[in-house]
Amino acid sequence: MKKDIRKAIIAGNWKMNKTPSETSVLINEIAPLVKDAGCEVITCVPYVDLSAAVEATKGTNIKVGAENCHWAESGAFTGEISAAMLKEVGVEYVVLGHSERRQYFGETDETVNKRTKAVLKAGLKPIVCVGELLWERECNITEEVIARQIKLDLWDVTAEELKNVVIAYEPVWAIGTGKTATAEQAEDVCAFIRAQLGKLYGEEAAAGVTIQYGGSMNDKNADELLQKENVDGGLIGGASLVAEKFAAIVKAATVN
Ligand code: 13P
Repeated sequence: MKKDIRKAIIAGNWKMNKTPSETSVLINEIAPLVKDAGCEVITCVPYVDLSAAVEATKGTNIKVGAENCHWAESGAFTGEISAAMLKEVGVEYVVLGHSERRQYFGETDETVNKRTKAVLKAGLKPIVCVGELLWERECNITEEVIARQIKLDLWDVTAEELKNVVIAYEPVWAIGTGKTATAEQAEDVCAFIRAQLGKLYGEEAAAGVTIQYGGSMNDKNADELLQKENVDGGLIGGASLVAEKFAAIVKAATVN
């Protein structure tokens, strides 16, 4: 039912893993396993691996994403990468506002918003990550945190641009911890995100947005999570580095 109105997307977030040559090897392993996928399949890789990923995915159904992007078009920003640079390399998606960037690199909702707008302006598709800390969940303010992130991260993004935005709900306490949100917890927050989008953009626009779950999603728990009405896909860390596990998650998205 939900597939009638929005596409399921399984994206690997490789984080700081794999060299360019290792990238080609892993994509060559993944490609035959996901060739019949009934969902969109993306590998988001480190900047230096992007060219190898674009080359290795040629002629396959796998799309390539970056893991971040600067908001300026060009200029004195040593070490940074612009949306135009990513576009020219052949990137289609960009992960933005990942909790590791917020936690370790001073990313704020304001900079996530600036990056989101820059990525959209360049014709790329942002995967905007939101999620609460364990402390925030325990204090019962998950919805406040998420509502604030959605509003600020998408500030000034138009309804037309929203069609190219993917949201990833990643509870910070579930990332890399082996502690997955239950399917009910994931559904509750993904449904809440859609309701917030509905308030900002109207229900019809909100109904079309792909909302992924991320946080220790793997080949064992993907099926249950992806069965949920508002969980349209996954942003996968650890399990995306193992071809068989990643392919099993793609399969779960295909049947649900
Ligand atoms: P893990 O799947 O390793 O928990 O990572 C999730 C994540 O952060 C994806 O962006």
